[in-house]
Amino acid sequence: MDSLHQMRQEYAAGSLNETNMPHNPMEVFNVWLDFAINSGLTEPNAMTVATATADGKPSARVVLLKEVNDNGFVFFTNYMSRKGRELIVNPEVAIVFDWHNLERQVRVEGRAEKLSAEESEAYFNERPEDAKIGAWASPQSKIVKDREELEKHLEEIEEQFEDMPVHRPSHWGGYLIRPSVIEFWQGRPSRMHDRIVYYKTEDGWTMHRLAP
Ligand SMILES: Cc1cc2nc3c(=O)[nH]c(=O)nc-3n(C[C@H](O)[C@H](O)[C@H](O)COP(=O)(O)O)c2cc1C
Repeated sequence: MDSLHQMRQEYAAGSLNETNMPHNPMEVFNVWLDFAINSGLTEPNAMTVATATADGKPSARVVLLKEVNDNGFVFFTNYMSRKGRELIVNPEVAIVFDWHNLERQVRVEGRAEKLSAEESEAYFNERPEDAKIGAWASPQSKIVKDREELEKHLEEIEEQFEDMPVHRPSHWGGYLIRPSVIEFWQGRPSRMHDRIVYYKTEDGWTMHRLAP
């Protein structure tokens, strides 16, 4: 505990200046994502996605960003998982990218919607065979008896698809998160960090500085 008390990092890698930031936060995000990728971080596309039940009980987990476009952020999962079941009753989500080595964090709030079956299929068909099989084999977020039960189920699925191509199970696919708030955080010395937040409006985005 004492050693946690003593851990203290000074941040000095960069700064944010609202006078020269683009009007569209997705432009900033794309620049930051490219930078994170080119910096050699391990899985720079990993993001924490928080969902909540209808009565507001939150849960969060890491998933991989698989596409970013003008509409928002895309990830893939099992629609019957805990997150999938929560998103049915409450599509409000929050995302956090923690690019720690760059002293950067991006926070997003928005609403999740399922991709079309065609869009999910297009990505599913690009996946390696074992990942395709995995989408069938794992009843994600369900309690299972033991590892053996999972492995037996995997073998059964592998046998089932031995002589035919693995198609997408209907319970597996993508979500698009349409952002309404995006905040960029850059660590600064003495805890005087830079925080620039964008709020979606009817005809674009407004930008503000937040106190650290
Ligand atoms: C680095 C990393 C990447 C992950 N990527 C995904 C992903 O893209 N999709 C996914 O469903 N789960 C992914 N997971 C597993 C999730 O964190 C989580 O265990 C799983 O989705 C079940 O979550 P749920 O029970 O809250 O629905 C990833 C985990 C880690 C640590």
